[in-house]
Amino acid sequence: KGDSGLSEVNLLKSKVSALEGQLKALQANFAKYQKVATFPGGRTVGNKVFKTNGYEGNFEDLKQKCVQAGGQLATPRNAAENDAVQKVAALYNKSAFLGITDLKTKGTFKYLNDQPITYSNWLQGEPNNNQGNENCVEIFTNGKWNDRACGEKRLLLCEF
Ligand code: IPD
Ligand code: CA
Repeated sequence: KGDSGLSEVNLLKSKVSALEGQLKALQANFAKYQKVATFPGGRTVGNKVFKTNGYEGNFEDLKQKCVQAGGQLATPRNAAENDAVQKVAALYNKSAFLGITDLKTKGTFKYLNDQPITYSNWLQGEPNNNQGNENCVEIFTNGKWNDRACGEKRLLLCEF
């Protein structure tokens, strides 16, 4: 009985040791793919990856392309995420549309899951709903936000 208990412990030890080896290999490989994901048009914040491929389109086009790729339009939820999105936009020197609109509730900007936004970085004087037709949100290369007509063409910037 004592002997079989011991061999069971040894079996578990060798299994743990094998798992440790596999985990180490996985971590190294993951670090490599983090570099791939962020070169050249990406940034990570925690587990979030923000990425562009340089494409430009209107809001619906960009939204669809992010979902098609398995992500969604970039939606910075705090200053660190906004900083990452800003840096990606700055790489291309182009404004990008965020995953935020007031299309359903004019005057109240919401995330694409219909929840009201809890973080914003509006440029002074924005959102101003210029000509009553600005329901999307662009982020400038300086990180500030402006409400803008959804039909304008902006940089594709997705989060994964
Ligand atoms: C507008 C201005 C305005 C901003 C609007 C823009 P436009 O640009 O930059 O400050 O609030 O969103 O549409 O139409 O005068 O080129
Ligand atoms: Ca505006």
